Amino acid sequence: MNPGFIAISPAISARLAASALRQIMRPVNGQHAVSRSGRQLGIWFVLLFLLLGMPGPAARAQDATPADASSLAAARAAAKGLGETLKAQLVAAIKAGGPVAAVGVCRSIAPAIAEDQSQAHAVKVGRTALKVRNPANAPDAFERRVLEDFVRKINAGADPASLEHTETVTQNGESVFRYMKAIPTAAEPCLTCHGSNLEPALKAEIQRLYPDDQATGFDPGELRGAFTVTQKRK
Ligand code: HEC
Repeated sequence: MNPGFIAISPAISARLAASALRQIMRPVNGQHAVSRSGRQLGIWFVLLFLLLGMPGPAARAQDATPADASSLAAARAAAKGLGETLKAQLVAAIKAGGPVAAVGVCRSIAPAIAEDQSQAHAVKVGRTALKVRNPANAPDAFERRVLEDFVRKINAGADPASLEHTETVTQNGESVFRYMKAIPTAAEPCLTCHGSNLEPALKAEIQRLYPDDQATGFDPGELRGAFTVTQKRK
């Protein structure tokens, strides 16, 4: 549904216009007198209803287009690629060197994998959150609004794994396709580094690399953040 478009079919607007005209041309004191201004008003009614009956530009812009479908497919693929590759590397790094070493791995590979996936799918993909570890991942106004909306939906019972959002917005005069997909907090392995009881050596390493870290204290199932994708429209 498009809230910006008043849906009146041409047939209904014609009928409304006709009844408006009849109203204006109603016999006055038994005479069939129609004033000039009444007739002009009638013509304006006809034009107004014809206009309302036509789908406006807003309606057309919000209809799904083939470009939307291909952008959505690319965005989903980039988010999935980033999520799966990162998680596999993270688990491997913890297994190989323990969580303290894995923090450094995550720090260097997360941006590199994001860059790879961006190039592979001709988009820009990254991660963001309301509470971030790396300030470079802080949300912009759009991302904050969508993250807050995800939180509201989760609080109302939605499954965080199913939440995604797409929108085509205008940024600096350019049309930009935007996509976000919620990242739930899993008990394993996420809580090791994002939970409430971090191992002291791990906590110290995170503090050293991320002095402004806000990304601890999470519970399983809580929204940890989101994948965020942008694609400029030509
Ligand atoms: C070994 C520790 C470690 C584990 C385990 C871990 N993370 Fe992180 N996480 C980090 C680090 C370090 C960063 C900052 C990365 C950077 O500099 O971009 C981070 C950043 C993030 C971000 C980006 C937003 C931000 O806060 O900067 C998200 C989202 C995230 N992690 C989700 C998860 C999820 C979901 C899991 C479980 C699947 C997980 N993490 C497991 C260490 C970890």
